[in-house]
Amino acid sequence: MSNDETRVAEATPAGNGAAASPKRRHRSVLVQMETPNLVPERDLGKMPVLQAEHLGIDFGGLTAVDDFNIAMGRTEISGLIGPNGAGKTTIFNLLTNVYRPTRGTVLLDGYDTAGKSVVEVNKMGIARTFQNIRLFNKMTVEENVLVGLGNSMSTHLFTDIFRLPKHWKQEAEFHDKAMDLLGIFNMQSLARERAGNLPYGAQRRLEILRALATNPKVLLLDEPAAGMNPAETEELMENIEKIRDDFQIAILLIEHDMSFVMGICEVIGVLDYGRIIAKGTPEEIQNDPKVIEAYLGKQGVK
Ligand SMILES: Nc1ncnc2c1ncn2[C@@H]1O[C@H](COP(=O)(O)OP(=O)(O)OP(=O)(O)O)[C@@H](O)[C@H]1O
Ligand SMILES: [Mg+2]
Repeated sequence: MSNDETRVAEATPAGNGAAASPKRRHRSVLVQMETPNLVPERDLGKMPVLQAEHLGIDFGGLTAVDDFNIAMGRTEISGLIGPNGAGKTTIFNLLTNVYRPTRGTVLLDGYDTAGKSVVEVNKMGIARTFQNIRLFNKMTVEENVLVGLGNSMSTHLFTDIFRLPKHWKQEAEFHDKAMDLLGIFNMQSLARERAGNLPYGAQRRLEILRALATNPKVLLLDEPAAGMNPAETEELMENIEKIRDDFQIAILLIEHDMSFVMGICEVIGVLDYGRIIAKGTPEEIQNDPKVIEAYLGKQGVK
């Protein structure tokens, strides 16, 4: 067995049928960096796409997140897990400048995001979905994706107002791009439906596509499988890997569904009371007594 295969075997959670499928295997070797981080070997030698150092935020007397550090490989799929209220969503809010950090630094591709607006951070290359789905419910499915694509729209207000040919051409291009994106989840036939009329699982998928439409380097997914049935969850796992492969982006996800996290993530960080208490491969995390005590034991997962 090669080193790669050994690592793959180790990273496959015992007794998890879904994780044992060939598609689910991680072909990477994880490498310890100088800072206490792991990155897939394929991303080594390239600048980490996302770095956070000593990131933290206090809300009055409550330290919601403290000393959070990450260096994400450019095509890494990572997970953030932990009990309710541990600070997971707050980390996404810090990484996207929804909250201004009390301390610490966030670098995207080496550029400091301090002082940037949420929209500017998105344009720099971080896109996200929300724990509580945020779509434009009265707009169509396609229009929701177009909002994401609009991030890169260059149509000048003038041409927009006078409907000049440049605008028509761009409209057709954007329609094609939106339909391509909808194709990732086989949602083209739903393009003209109102987003608010979609079933819950489809709304979650649409939110991912809208985020992806902004052409990110890093995609943050806050509980993407929440409310999905097992078949939808299984399909989502495959599609997240496909998105990573096709778009060559990094994905950081928060999820309480452990077979999902263990099956798809190469690196997992465990948060408890705002602090990372463990970081490692799915196998390392599942066997870490601190993690079992703080979280997994309570989840009924080994
Ligand atoms: N704007 C805010 N003002 C005050 N406290 C906040 C704010 N946002 C988050 N918190 C607090 O920070 C802590 C972490 O919350 P957060 O939503 O990040 O948890 P979480 O890990 O995402 O939990 P869950 O799994 O339930 O989604 C909680 O105690 C929460 O009440
Ligand atoms: Mg949350």
